[in-house]
Amino acid sequence: MLAGRRILLIIGGGIAAYKTLELIRLLRGQGACVTPVLTRAGEEFVTPLSVSAIAGVRVYRDLFDLTDEAEMGHIELSRAADLVVVAPATADLMAKMAGGHADDLASTLLMATDKRVLIAPAMNVRMWEHPATMRNLALLEGDGILRAGPDAGEMACGEYGPGRMAEPAAIRDAVAGVLGAGPLAGRRVVVTSGPTHEPIDPVRYIANRSSGAQGAAIAAALRDLGAEVRFVTGPARVPAPAGVTVTRVETAREMLAAVDAALPADAVVCAAAVGDWRAARDAPQKMKKTDGRPPALEFVENPDILATISQRGETRPPLVIGFAAETEQVEAHATAKRMRKGCDWILANDVSAKGGAMGGPQNRVTLITAEGAEHWPQMAKSEVARRLAARIAETLG
Ligand code: CTP
Repeated sequence: MLAGRRILLIIGGGIAAYKTLELIRLLRGQGACVTPVLTRAGEEFVTPLSVSAIAGVRVYRDLFDLTDEAEMGHIELSRAADLVVVAPATADLMAKMAGGHADDLASTLLMATDKRVLIAPAMNVRMWEHPATMRNLALLEGDGILRAGPDAGEMACGEYGPGRMAEPAAIRDAVAGVLGAGPLAGRRVVVTSGPTHEPIDPVRYIANRSSGAQGAAIAAALRDLGAEVRFVTGPARVPAPAGVTVTRVETAREMLAAVDAALPADAVVCAAAVGDWRAARDAPQKMKKTDGRPPALEFVENPDILATISQRGETRPPLVIGFAAETEQVEAHATAKRMRKGCDWILANDVSAKGGAMGGPQNRVTLITAEGAEHWPQMAKSEVARRLAARIAETLG
């Protein structure tokens, strides 16, 4: 998949650096040549010897390693690669990148390169959520820096949340996707995500608890396998992934129109928690408490995007996938929902409070197809996404 592709791999100073050794092995397993660069802090976590033993080449550590006539200069080193990968990308490395520093070999290479850069952030959850890191991330994304992860889960420091470096296999897939070598290269997939906001009046709306995390993870996983992703999202709490085409909508009707505009596609994944109903009248002015009585809200049904696309006839995409948010009898209700909506697959998840799927980092899903039900164990939403993307790639061939 990556035969002959050259990866410049910068290893930052985080506990996740030990996973980068596995990443090198996986990249080389696909035929890539990996040139490792170890930062000073990185050396505290993995030794130059172990990195070079696994990479099969020397490790670059110091800017002044490169002053020797016989060695490649830093400009050349940064450009000889097809892709620059930073894993783990620590809070400090991200800050240096965002600020344009060039005071050591890694930061100088990142400044000098004319190639795309993919970062795999890894840090404590508080550091990840710190406004400074979020600000730096926004700057980096604005600069077109690509990103794999971080995942949410248990961390080496004992805390729980987003900040864990993406699994090496996910980073390898992201590399393949960026280099156009993934199994979904040349395929287009539309993903809906997030809640919808259905207006009642100019200041009030009906919403739901969807964070958009599962949809964003699916879009990222499909992108990582090389798909061209059209991401149609309601007002989600989780940011849209880099490297996908984003259309932001508010209401179910806007979402359907945006999905239509994104078609044709090889597959559609409806992960959005679309509001089933909207207020029959969207009051043009703020509703007032005039006579002391609460207003009677009347609802009308929204268009069902999944059912509409599934029942399209000739222009129906070959693979249409929905979710089923259920709070009881998950498998039975989801199986009936697959038939009723006319989609190919349903990923059923338990959204009761005990399931913790809505807003939480984990999900337990059952994949319902024409062949029956397949129960997946509880796993991170990013892992559900990766499994689903791999299954889509297998099915589209
Ligand atoms: N969906 C949609 N458009 C809607 C409602 C739902 O595209 N107006 C999609 C969702 O994105 C999801 C699937 O349909 O993929 C099932 O959503 P769910 O809320 O579980 O089902 P409902 O159709 O709302 O059925 P019910 O409320 O009866 O469970």
